[in-house]
Amino acid sequence: MTATAEHISAPSPAGAIDAAELARLPAPPARRLPRAAQVIWFGQRQWNFVFANRAKFGDVWGARGYVPGRAAVTCHPDHVQALFTAPPAQVPTLAADSPLRPVLGPNSVLTANGPRHLRQRKLLLPAFHGDAIARYERMIAEAAEREIARWPVGKPFALAPRMQAITLDVIMAGIFGIEGRPKRGTPEARLRRAIREVVRASTLPGAKVAELTNIGHDEPVGLTSLALRVPDRCVHAVIAKRRRDPDLESRGDILSLIMRARTDDGETLSDHELRDELMTLVLAGHETTANQLAWTWERLVRHPDAYERLVAAVRDDAEDADEVIAQTITESMRTRPVIPMTGRRVAVPWRLGDYGVPAGTPVAVSILLLHHREDLYPEPFAFRPDRWEGRKPGTYEWIPFGGGTRRCLGAALAMAEQRVVVRAMARQLDLAATTTKPERPKHRNVTMIPARGGRVVVRARRP
Ligand code: HEM
Repeated sequence: MTATAEHISAPSPAGAIDAAELARLPAPPARRLPRAAQVIWFGQRQWNFVFANRAKFGDVWGARGYVPGRAAVTCHPDHVQALFTAPPAQVPTLAADSPLRPVLGPNSVLTANGPRHLRQRKLLLPAFHGDAIARYERMIAEAAEREIARWPVGKPFALAPRMQAITLDVIMAGIFGIEGRPKRGTPEARLRRAIREVVRASTLPGAKVAELTNIGHDEPVGLTSLALRVPDRCVHAVIAKRRRDPDLESRGDILSLIMRARTDDGETLSDHELRDELMTLVLAGHETTANQLAWTWERLVRHPDAYERLVAAVRDDAEDADEVIAQTITESMRTRPVIPMTGRRVAVPWRLGDYGVPAGTPVAVSILLLHHREDLYPEPFAFRPDRWEGRKPGTYEWIPFGGGTRRCLGAALAMAEQRVVVRAMARQLDLAATTTKPERPKHRNVTMIPARGGRVVVRARRP
């Protein structure tokens, strides 16, 4: 049972079961809709899809989606705990089957399973540890200042691409060990431009089709393959340049670290493996954070109480300013988790409350539904950062970064970036919404982003 004082869900059994117990338990209830209809509904309107199913079936239900097999979806914290604490071999990640795989490749820490995953994760963890991130804070602040200084006053604009400029500079600096933005004409600068292009192209109408045609492939096909040609060439140029670097042995950046790393058999990563890892870190490491920041402000400019509380704490240098900032980010990630779903493919028969699923079933956790449980979060749809006063996010109740051995590697970095950027914006800018209507969540690949990019207008700048 998961509990944080008064906020408790009724306990629900979950985890590995034997064949006899599986035979006794019914399968989760499901709509009788063809797979194609469910894929389209889920892909276009995941928000509506999951809330409609929860209303009809409760905490657990079946669905047919992108990934092969009949999936089960849950949103109970005890089920989340069982999945996140099981031995990794019992719960390989569903990211290995997701539309991300052909883009990131099969060799990355995000898409790999088994020993390769553990090895890559062990290798990368120190670079993303809290202590390491503390060293990045100044660099993040500089990237934020540089960007914020460019924003127009009185002219509406979308925050997401602006945030992306900051988070892309930050992740590239960490990976390649460069200060500030890469210099013009360098392979890193070309890579930066190419990545921005790919992300921009992924918002165009044809992108959804391209995404769907890639499912089930190890290598990208069609439009995606075309779109990746330039960034791939740039990544390989960056790798080749670094291989020639006489200081490779002493450099502390992430690329040099993974280039020098050896497996137990003494092998180093091939260029192809390095490409997958770099693409993962660059893509997973900047778009998510950028859109989460856009959501935070999309919410804030429509909630004057929360907005005023934040701005006052920051501008007055209040004693609790750090906490108010943290509460605001926590509430944004609760109500608008930029990754709304994560999952595992159970390798053994599994219990989810009153239901059982056979070995091989994809089990998805709807982060969105979990974060809107009335029993954990009274008035779940209200954006109220102050609900976190004196309350810590529960490990299996607030999971915007997933959990267990697959928990987001960049969580500490993402939190540091959000803290620094939210503080800088609250201190320097008077912001307002351009419409009273909230922005619709739009689903792109595995992310949930504000449909208009988080449009705001700067009313005034403060010195
Ligand atoms: C607000 C920003 C971010 C959010 C909401 C987010 C969310 C997530 C989620 C939900 C997962 C899957 C976890 C699971 O299945 O249990 C994940 C995995 C991952 N994330 Fe993030 N992420 C963010 C930022 C970052 C950053 C900055 C990086 C930097 C490199 C990063 C790198 C990764 C990697 C490498 C994985 C795969 C970990 C593994 O499978 O072992 N993410 N992230």
